[in-house]
Amino acid sequence: MRNLIIAANWKMNKGPKDAAAFLDAFIPKVASFSGSADIVIAPPFITIPAAATQLAGNSRIALSAQNVSQNDAGAFTGETCTCMLNELGVQYVILGHSERRSIYGETDAIINAKNKKALAASLKPIFCIGETLEQREGGQLESVLSTQITEGLAGISEAELANVVIAYEPVWAIGTGVTATAEQAQDTHKFVRSVIASLYSQQAADAIRIQYGGSVKPANAAELLGQPDIDGALVGGAALEADSFFGILENSAS
Ligand code: PGA
Repeated sequence: MRNLIIAANWKMNKGPKDAAAFLDAFIPKVASFSGSADIVIAPPFITIPAAATQLAGNSRIALSAQNVSQNDAGAFTGETCTCMLNELGVQYVILGHSERRSIYGETDAIINAKNKKALAASLKPIFCIGETLEQREGGQLESVLSTQITEGLAGISEAELANVVIAYEPVWAIGTGVTATAEQAQDTHKFVRSVIASLYSQQAADAIRIQYGGSVKPANAAELLGQPDIDGALVGGAALEADSFFGILENSAS
Protein backbone atom coordinates (compact mmCIF):
# COMPACT_ATOMS: atom_id res chain seq x y z
CA MET A 1 0.00 0.00 0.00
CA ARG A 2 1.23 3.46 -0.90
CA ASN A 3 0.91 6.01 1.89
CA LEU A 4 -0.65 9.31 0.83
CA ILE A 5 1.63 12.34 0.67
CA ILE A 6 0.04 15.77 0.98
CA ALA A 7 2.39 18.68 0.32
CA ALA A 8 2.02 22.45 0.56
CA ASN A 9 3.83 24.43 -2.11
CA TRP A 10 3.87 27.95 -0.74
CA LYS A 11 5.65 29.31 -3.84
CA MET A 12 6.86 32.91 -3.23
CA ASN A 13 4.55 33.43 -0.27
CA LYS A 14 5.20 33.61 3.49
CA GLY A 15 8.32 35.06 5.00
CA PRO A 16 9.37 33.76 8.44
CA LYS A 17 6.66 35.75 10.30
CA ASP A 18 3.73 34.53 8.20
CA ALA A 19 5.09 30.99 8.26
CA ALA A 20 5.30 31.07 12.06
CA ALA A 21 1.67 32.16 12.28
CA PHE A 22 0.64 29.35 9.90
CA LEU A 23 2.59 26.74 11.88
CA ASP A 24 1.23 28.03 15.22
CA ALA A 25 -2.23 27.22 13.91
CA PHE A 26 -1.34 24.10 11.91
CA ILE A 27 0.86 22.13 14.33
CA PRO A 28 -1.90 21.60 16.97
CA LYS A 29 -4.36 20.51 14.27
CA VAL A 30 -1.91 17.91 13.01
CA ALA A 31 -1.28 16.73 16.57
CA SER A 32 -4.95 15.75 16.78
CA PHE A 33 -5.09 14.29 13.25
CA SER A 34 -5.44 10.54 13.16
CA GLY A 35 -4.79 10.02 9.44
CA SER A 36 -1.51 8.52 8.32
CA ALA A 37 -0.72 10.71 5.28
CA ASP A 38 2.80 12.09 5.03
CA ILE A 39 2.60 15.87 5.48
CA VAL A 40 5.12 18.13 3.77
CA ILE A 41 5.49 21.91 3.70
CA ALA A 42 7.63 23.70 1.12
CA PRO A 43 8.35 27.29 2.20
CA PRO A 44 10.56 29.74 0.33
CA PHE A 45 14.29 29.20 1.04
CA ILE A 46 14.53 32.22 3.33
CA THR A 47 11.72 30.88 5.52
CA ILE A 48 13.15 27.37 5.89
CA PRO A 49 15.48 28.04 8.87
CA ALA A 50 12.72 29.50 11.07
CA ALA A 51 10.27 26.79 10.00
CA ALA A 52 12.91 24.13 10.73
CA THR A 53 13.38 25.56 14.23
CA GLN A 54 9.63 25.60 14.84
CA LEU A 55 9.29 22.03 13.57
CA ALA A 56 12.31 20.65 15.44
CA GLY A 57 11.31 17.38 17.08
CA ASN A 58 8.05 17.23 15.10
CA SER A 59 8.13 13.97 13.19
CA ARG A 60 4.70 14.46 11.53
CA ILE A 61 5.52 17.47 9.36
CA ALA A 62 8.47 17.33 6.95
CA LEU A 63 10.07 20.27 5.20
CA SER A 64 10.68 20.60 1.49
CA ALA A 65 12.51 23.16 -0.60
CA GLN A 66 10.95 24.44 -3.83
CA ASN A 67 14.13 24.15 -5.89
CA VAL A 68 17.83 23.36 -5.52
CA SER A 69 20.99 23.91 -7.52
CA GLN A 70 22.45 21.08 -9.57
CA ASN A 71 25.89 22.35 -8.51
CA ASP A 72 27.76 21.73 -5.26
CA ALA A 73 29.15 25.10 -4.20
CA GLY A 74 30.93 28.15 -5.53
CA ALA A 75 30.27 30.92 -7.99
CA PHE A 76 26.51 30.48 -8.57
CA THR A 77 24.98 33.77 -7.46
CA GLY A 78 21.51 33.41 -6.03
CA GLU A 79 21.57 29.62 -5.85
CA THR A 80 21.17 27.17 -2.95
CA CYS A 81 22.89 23.77 -2.82
CA THR A 82 21.76 20.45 -1.43
CA CYS A 83 24.34 20.65 1.38
CA MET A 84 22.61 23.77 2.74
CA LEU A 85 19.25 22.00 2.76
CA ASN A 86 20.83 18.99 4.46
CA GLU A 87 22.19 21.26 7.17
CA LEU A 88 18.63 22.40 8.00
CA GLY A 89 17.11 18.91 7.98
CA VAL A 90 15.06 19.45 4.82
CA GLN A 91 13.79 16.10 3.52
CA TYR A 92 12.15 16.86 0.15
CA VAL A 93 12.67 19.18 -2.78
CA ILE A 94 10.13 20.15 -5.45
CA LEU A 95 11.83 19.88 -8.85
CA GLY A 96 10.58 20.54 -12.35
CA HIS A 97 7.57 22.60 -11.31
CA SER A 98 5.90 24.09 -14.37
CA GLU A 99 6.73 27.60 -13.11
CA ARG A 100 10.43 26.64 -13.03
CA ARG A 101 10.10 25.14 -16.50
CA SER A 102 8.19 28.02 -18.11
CA ILE A 103 9.43 31.13 -16.26
CA TYR A 104 13.02 30.08 -15.56
CA GLY A 105 13.64 27.96 -18.63
CA GLU A 106 14.43 24.72 -16.80
CA THR A 107 14.78 21.96 -19.35
CA ASP A 108 14.31 18.24 -18.84
CA ALA A 109 18.12 17.94 -18.77
CA ILE A 110 18.44 20.53 -15.99
CA ILE A 111 15.64 18.89 -14.02
CA ASN A 112 17.34 15.52 -14.48
CA ALA A 113 20.61 16.94 -13.10
CA LYS A 114 18.71 18.37 -10.12
CA ASN A 115 16.87 15.10 -9.48
CA LYS A 116 20.20 13.27 -9.43
CA LYS A 117 21.88 15.85 -7.23
CA ALA A 118 18.98 15.75 -4.75
CA LEU A 119 19.02 11.95 -4.56
CA ALA A 120 22.78 11.90 -4.06
CA ALA A 121 22.24 14.19 -1.07
CA SER A 122 19.43 12.03 0.37
CA LEU A 123 16.78 14.61 -0.50
CA LYS A 124 13.57 13.18 -1.91
CA PRO A 125 12.56 14.84 -5.17
CA ILE A 126 8.91 15.77 -5.68
CA PHE A 127 9.39 15.58 -9.41
CA CYS A 128 6.73 17.57 -11.28
CA ILE A 129 5.42 16.84 -14.74
CA GLY A 130 2.44 18.13 -16.65
CA GLU A 131 1.08 19.21 -19.99
CA THR A 132 -0.31 22.54 -21.19
CA LEU A 133 -3.90 22.79 -22.41
CA GLU A 134 -2.62 23.20 -25.95
CA GLN A 135 -0.63 19.97 -25.67
CA ARG A 136 -3.60 18.07 -24.20
CA GLU A 137 -6.00 19.35 -26.83
CA GLY A 138 -3.44 18.65 -29.55
CA GLY A 139 -3.30 14.97 -28.60
CA GLN A 140 0.22 15.23 -27.16
CA LEU A 141 -0.58 14.40 -23.54
CA GLU A 142 1.11 11.02 -23.50
CA SER A 143 4.16 12.00 -25.54
CA VAL A 144 4.78 15.12 -23.44
CA LEU A 145 4.54 13.22 -20.16
CA SER A 146 6.61 10.29 -21.43
CA THR A 147 9.39 12.63 -22.48
CA GLN A 148 9.33 14.55 -19.20
CA ILE A 149 9.46 11.31 -17.22
CA THR A 150 12.06 9.55 -19.36
CA GLU A 151 14.41 12.52 -19.53
CA GLY A 152 13.82 13.69 -15.98
CA LEU A 153 14.63 10.26 -14.56
CA ALA A 154 17.46 9.34 -16.98
CA GLY A 155 20.31 7.60 -15.17
CA ILE A 156 18.32 7.19 -11.95
CA SER A 157 18.34 3.61 -10.69
CA GLU A 158 15.32 1.66 -9.50
CA ALA A 159 16.74 1.76 -5.96
CA GLU A 160 16.96 5.55 -6.15
CA LEU A 161 13.47 5.79 -7.63
CA ALA A 162 12.11 4.53 -4.30
CA ASN A 163 12.90 8.01 -2.94
CA VAL A 164 11.16 9.89 -5.76
CA VAL A 165 7.61 11.20 -5.60
CA ILE A 166 6.05 12.21 -8.92
CA ALA A 167 3.64 15.15 -8.98
CA TYR A 168 1.35 15.23 -11.99
CA GLU A 169 0.24 18.82 -12.39
CA PRO A 170 -1.62 19.75 -15.57
CA VAL A 171 -0.38 23.28 -16.28
CA TRP A 172 -3.92 24.43 -17.15
CA ALA A 173 -5.11 23.47 -13.66
CA ILE A 174 -2.41 25.26 -11.66
CA GLY A 175 -3.69 28.34 -9.87
CA THR A 176 -6.64 28.60 -12.25
CA GLY A 177 -9.39 27.14 -10.10
CA VAL A 178 -9.92 24.61 -12.89
CA THR A 179 -9.27 21.10 -11.62
CA ALA A 180 -8.84 18.05 -13.77
CA THR A 181 -11.86 15.84 -13.24
CA ALA A 182 -11.19 12.87 -11.01
CA GLU A 183 -11.52 10.69 -14.11
CA GLN A 184 -9.04 12.76 -16.18
CA ALA A 185 -6.57 12.74 -13.29
CA GLN A 186 -6.98 9.00 -12.65
CA ASP A 187 -6.49 8.16 -16.35
CA THR A 188 -3.36 10.26 -16.52
CA HIS A 189 -1.93 8.87 -13.28
CA LYS A 190 -2.50 5.37 -14.59
CA PHE A 191 -0.63 6.31 -17.73
CA VAL A 192 2.26 7.80 -15.70
CA ARG A 193 2.47 4.58 -13.72
CA SER A 194 2.60 2.57 -16.95
CA VAL A 195 5.54 4.68 -18.13
CA ILE A 196 7.36 3.87 -14.88
CA ALA A 197 6.57 0.17 -15.41
CA SER A 198 8.10 0.25 -18.87
CA LEU A 199 11.17 2.23 -17.78
CA TYR A 200 11.76 0.24 -14.58
CA SER A 201 9.48 -2.62 -13.50
CA GLN A 202 5.90 -3.32 -12.46
CA GLN A 203 7.11 -3.45 -8.88
CA ALA A 204 8.62 0.04 -9.15
CA ALA A 205 5.43 1.31 -10.80
CA ASP A 206 3.28 -0.15 -8.03
CA ALA A 207 5.47 1.41 -5.36
CA ILE A 208 5.96 4.95 -6.66
CA ARG A 209 3.72 7.65 -5.25
CA ILE A 210 2.07 9.97 -7.77
CA GLN A 211 0.56 13.17 -6.41
CA TYR A 212 -2.01 15.24 -8.25
CA GLY A 213 -1.60 19.02 -8.28
CA GLY A 214 -3.69 21.81 -9.72
CA SER A 215 -6.40 23.67 -7.78
CA VAL A 216 -6.75 20.98 -5.11
CA LYS A 217 -8.92 22.26 -2.25
CA PRO A 218 -10.86 20.73 0.65
CA ALA A 219 -13.98 20.40 -1.51
CA ASN A 220 -12.39 18.27 -4.23
CA ALA A 221 -9.69 16.45 -2.23
CA ALA A 222 -11.73 13.41 -1.25
CA GLU A 223 -12.80 12.61 -4.79
CA LEU A 224 -9.33 13.11 -6.27
CA LEU A 225 -7.53 11.26 -3.50
CA GLY A 226 -10.03 8.45 -3.62
CA GLN A 227 -8.82 7.46 -7.10
CA PRO A 228 -6.74 4.28 -7.15
CA ASP A 229 -3.66 5.80 -8.80
CA ILE A 230 -3.70 9.16 -6.98
CA ASP A 231 -1.41 8.96 -3.96
CA GLY A 232 -1.49 12.49 -2.66
CA ALA A 233 -1.68 16.14 -3.55
CA LEU A 234 0.68 19.03 -4.21
CA VAL A 235 -1.25 22.08 -3.13
CA GLY A 236 -0.55 25.74 -3.88
CA GLY A 237 -3.28 28.30 -3.19
CA ALA A 238 -5.30 26.17 -0.77
CA ALA A 239 -2.19 25.45 1.31
CA LEU A 240 -1.66 29.08 2.31
CA GLU A 241 -4.22 28.95 5.12
CA ALA A 242 -3.86 26.39 7.92
CA ASP A 243 -7.60 25.68 7.94
CA SER A 244 -7.84 24.91 4.27
CA PHE A 245 -4.63 22.88 4.08
CA PHE A 246 -5.77 20.90 7.11
CA GLY A 247 -9.19 20.50 5.46
CA ILE A 248 -7.49 18.73 2.57
CA LEU A 249 -5.74 16.41 5.00
CA GLU A 250 -8.97 15.69 6.85
CA ASN A 251 -10.82 14.95 3.62
CA SER A 252 -8.01 12.66 2.48
CA ALA A 253 -8.43 10.45 5.50
CA SER A 254 -11.96 9.26 4.79
P1 PGA B 1 -2.52 25.40 -7.04
O1 PGA B 1 -0.94 25.14 -7.28
O2 PGA B 1 -2.96 24.43 -5.99
O3 PGA B 1 -2.60 26.82 -6.57
O4 PGA B 1 -3.19 25.16 -8.33
C1 PGA B 1 -0.43 23.83 -7.31
C2 PGA B 1 1.05 23.88 -7.62
O5 PGA B 1 1.47 24.71 -8.43
O6 PGA B 1 1.84 23.07 -7.07
